[in-house]
Amino acid sequence: CGIVGYVGQKQAQDVVVEGLRRLEYRGYDSAGIALPKDGLIVSDKRAGKLANLEASIAATPLPAATAGIGHTRWATHGAPNDLNAHPHQGSRGRLAVVHNGIIENFAELRAELVAAGRTMLSETDTEIAAHLLEAEVVAGHDLTTAMQNVCRRLEGAFTLVAIDAAHPDTVVAARRNSPLVVGLGEGENFLGSDVAAFIDHTREALELGQDQVVTISRDGVRITTFDGQPAEGKQYHVDWDLAAAEKDGYDWFMRKEIFEQPRAVADALLGRRDAEGKLQLDEMRIDASELQGIDKIIIIAAGTSYYAGMVAKYAIEHWTRISVEVELASEFRYRDPILTRSTLVVAISQSGETADTLQAIRHARAQQSKVLAICNTNGSTIPRESDGVIYTYAGPEIGVASTKGYVTQLVACYLLALYLAQTKNTLYGDEINGVMDQLEAMPAHVQTVLDEADKVYQFARDHVDTKSVLFLGRHAGYPVALEGALKLKELAYIHAEGFAAGELKHGPIALIEEGLPVFCIVPPKGRDQLREKMVSAIQEIRARGAATIVLAEHDDEAITPYADEFIRLPKVPVLLQPLVAVVPLQLFACELATAMGHDVDQPRNLAKSVTVE
Ligand code: G6P
Repeated sequence: CGIVGYVGQKQAQDVVVEGLRRLEYRGYDSAGIALPKDGLIVSDKRAGKLANLEASIAATPLPAATAGIGHTRWATHGAPNDLNAHPHQGSRGRLAVVHNGIIENFAELRAELVAAGRTMLSETDTEIAAHLLEAEVVAGHDLTTAMQNVCRRLEGAFTLVAIDAAHPDTVVAARRNSPLVVGLGEGENFLGSDVAAFIDHTREALELGQDQVVTISRDGVRITTFDGQPAEGKQYHVDWDLAAAEKDGYDWFMRKEIFEQPRAVADALLGRRDAEGKLQLDEMRIDASELQGIDKIIIIAAGTSYYAGMVAKYAIEHWTRISVEVELASEFRYRDPILTRSTLVVAISQSGETADTLQAIRHARAQQSKVLAICNTNGSTIPRESDGVIYTYAGPEIGVASTKGYVTQLVACYLLALYLAQTKNTLYGDEINGVMDQLEAMPAHVQTVLDEADKVYQFARDHVDTKSVLFLGRHAGYPVALEGALKLKELAYIHAEGFAAGELKHGPIALIEEGLPVFCIVPPKGRDQLREKMVSAIQEIRARGAATIVLAEHDDEAITPYADEFIRLPKVPVLLQPLVAVVPLQLFACELATAMGHDVDQPRNLAKSVTVE
């Protein structure tokens, strides 16, 4: 979501709407604005793009005000309609709040508020923050203290921005694990999800730390911790142009999205364990009794999502002993697949709109099979037409080639596998918790791979004249090889192929010639049978002149003699290795395409969402 706050001398409506326009790339399910007027909040909010809100304001003008807040939404809790749009208010019309993130303990807080007689108008987790803040200011606290008190009660990741119409000369915000920056002006100050929100007005910005509350007024900015202790932000100058600001200083949305992956993986995992440590999938909606009867799973998807499905097969079969087929949606639909009531069809789709996948789930449901969607886009068609859904929470993905969408699909697949294992009792509770702990360590592991990006960039630039690249993997590394090749086809428009390393001698080895770059994904050291076979394959191709780019565990010294380039991966279990192994392949494709002068965000002939069969 995109968030804006303003206090100054200009018309707040203009500043807020302009800021929202700059942030619309962060989500466009709905947009809203709130301004103070004579001690009460005046607000307008509309489902759909910002243009809908603008049309509404044009028809029914808002009052003049010099402070205000605004929001452009990417739906998480609750469908993208007018009611769920932000800002949200308490019951007295005095306070409004906008929010980005997920308040994990929202069900419990909501129950408490309802028991205290409050009426909730929306399905959002945000509305509870509005009620809690309002109760605090009505009790006599100023909005800053109210924010500190409320934030100490919230769990999860959030940015909140609030305004109290009784004190219209300040806007107060807070952040925990969710973005928020302050823009410093002359006689005016700004808040935004990123600097794009205010770059038209000022280039001086203040970065906030974790768990901080900030109060802005016309001539001041005050920062505290959630406990009310004074704190400081870090001031910096923004020298990017506007387009770069929307991309957070990156040249491409895709590159930005690659670097957002640690955050995206963490978000995809957020709130999945209940107080007893049991796995819960909010919108699963398929009964445990029905899941217990499942004897076959068919995963259907297209493109990158299909490769996420291939990884899922390894995990689901290993942890649940349910047999899994993975199939391209376009093939599945027309081959008269065998589907019964005990078949679970899992449709993976970032956009939720891919026509092949949609037709496939319609066919499956007509055959009485249960359909579960794994999807990144709230309110899209595929989850709407499915029996249940696991959202991936990657945030909007703008680059056509999927990156953070893919890694969060992997996380959702692991969660599904573990959830089925919990339901069918194929793993013990502590085994499931063990894997969850390993998953929760993945954001940090992904970050260590990203920290080595420069090295990958360098040999991408060294290979700018290459006409062909091969990718080899085994086990869960095999689908990653396919995904690495797809990224390169999509972005660099060169011949690229992924192979199961074991198949090398059955054909692909004939392609090896002097200097051909071959990426080799080596299974972790604990899996020696797999690993040793991979090492032999690397020796075979190197003996025939290939330039080997080896991805292996960082201390896998035995491999170094055969690696022309060595990309170090953190130590992770083989089933989770795709989450880290894919990252250098994304970076390579992005940088090679950049060096070749291609448009990385909008590669030729491709579309983000293919809504025709
Ligand atoms: C298009 C996109 C790919 C994507 C595929 C499936 O081909 O260019 O990046 O992987 O569609 O999309 P979906 O939204 O269903 O995951």
